[in-house]
Amino acid sequence: MFMHDIIIVGGGLAGLRAALAAGGADAAVISRVHPLRSHSVAAQGGINAALGKTDRWEDHAVDTVKGSDYLADQDAVEVLCRDAPARVIEMERWGTLFSRTDEGHISQRPFGGAGFPRTAYAEDRTGHALLHTMYEQALKSGIKFYEEWLVTRLVLKTPYLNTGTNNGRCSGVVGYNIATGQVEGFLAKAVIFATGGYGRIYERSTNSIINTGFGCAVAYRSGAALEDMEFVQFHPTTLYGTNILITEGARGEEGMLKNKNGERFMERYSPHLLDLAPRDIVARAIQTEINEGRGFEGGYVHLDLTHLGAQKIKERLPGIRQISMDFANIDPIREPIPVQPGQHYSMGGIASNKECETSIPGFFAAGECSCISVHGANRLGGNSLLETIVFGKIAGENAVKYSKTSEFEVPDSLERSVLEESARISGLLNKTEGEPFFNIRDSLKAIMDEKVGIFRDEQKLTTALENIRELQMRYKNVFVRNKGSVFNQELVNAIELEGMLDIAETICIGALARKESRGSHYRIDFRERDDANWLRHTLVSYTRNGPRIEYKPVNITRYEPKRREY
Ligand code: FUM
Repeated sequence: MFMHDIIIVGGGLAGLRAALAAGGADAAVISRVHPLRSHSVAAQGGINAALGKTDRWEDHAVDTVKGSDYLADQDAVEVLCRDAPARVIEMERWGTLFSRTDEGHISQRPFGGAGFPRTAYAEDRTGHALLHTMYEQALKSGIKFYEEWLVTRLVLKTPYLNTGTNNGRCSGVVGYNIATGQVEGFLAKAVIFATGGYGRIYERSTNSIINTGFGCAVAYRSGAALEDMEFVQFHPTTLYGTNILITEGARGEEGMLKNKNGERFMERYSPHLLDLAPRDIVARAIQTEINEGRGFEGGYVHLDLTHLGAQKIKERLPGIRQISMDFANIDPIREPIPVQPGQHYSMGGIASNKECETSIPGFFAAGECSCISVHGANRLGGNSLLETIVFGKIAGENAVKYSKTSEFEVPDSLERSVLEESARISGLLNKTEGEPFFNIRDSLKAIMDEKVGIFRDEQKLTTALENIRELQMRYKNVFVRNKGSVFNQELVNAIELEGMLDIAETICIGALARKESRGSHYRIDFRERDDANWLRHTLVSYTRNGPRIEYKPVNITRYEPKRREY
């Protein structure tokens, strides 16, 4: 058994920022991969902050609330935008090499849905630059790391399913050591999840393969509600064929979208902002062009950068040039990039307030796995990196405060949880026949791509939900061929698949129930936003009898919902 005041699960930007904020406390980070391989490293285009002389955090907040289609909790948005400049400057002081203007200031580029060029960047590898800085700081401050561990369970004083209420505080986690096959308990006074998103339940996704949503799934099975899961972000421009991200920064640098007729079609969808409309609008526009026969064969449009010139592309977009050359044999200096929309981000997640507290005492969440609801129904590009460092810090500070008021629990429930998890994992390994995990996983991805994508309707969503429930039945028969204990990735994938199915189910339930179109959730059978009935958050909780759906109001402070036009 391991013991730390604060356990942080997730070694990306939110987790590392939380660990740094935990300061003098005894904090440890448990990470599924080496921290520098966390998905934060893949962020490209930049991070938003009102740094400009004529920009204001209030303007950033207005853009964020409007971008969210008014579903964001405005008190949380205010925290995000007000704290942004301090957090970005802090990263700069810690050593992040941001791109610079000729005057030596941090460069900022226009991004979708923003009324000001507010996105600070390090070429088009901003996540890489930030994550390395943060990891250096974490190493310097002596934070303990447990790398290559999969956390499979929260330890609660009273297990949720025995009582149906989460009246037990969180007193640790159970982890599976991927390198050795050992199952171990971690006792803690407070636990923070910063486990990232669930993009890999879709086939066409910009997410790295570790993004299975397992943290959300573990929290869900432990009694934490998942919030607004129906809001799945599709990035407009992913590389056709592999769906690797092609940053919005390319359009921020004046790249243009064109259909097969060479038409700049965004003029028809967003006459003012054109290619820099928010993502939900641009993704729908591209998909409409493809569906109506104005895309290229196979289903893509062109992102044209050829007019930017070699120097600008090499200076500001070297990463996407390299990706285009390596994965599509295209040099954007000379040819347009073939792009199509793909899943990119999870607006939904573990229901959390702006203090990063969840409904389980002692259990906090930050970053993409959380739904503090700063993004509402649609996140603006550049607000995700920002969310990690603003709310990572808050989660760490609040976990410290909480840990000072609590003691380590007597570890009975920890021991019992370890035994139960060991038995569950051995059960999977001891099975001698059944269905391999990848059949079920690949079917899940196909269902999500086809039926729970950019355009949704009752029939598709109902079929998707039925199909997912069939897969849940098939999962009971899942079988692992590799019986080894060292780096048994097949076993890890099989364990995670159960959670992926749970997450997919919550998305479908929320999407079926929400009979309106708002942000990324677009119902062709209910095309309008309906504030009278749906200006509210969805909460889905796990129960033995199946998911339970509830709603809670949106926190509106000063921005009254208006028609959203760009
Ligand atoms: O397009 C991008 O560079 C993505 C940025 C983001 O998701 O915030």
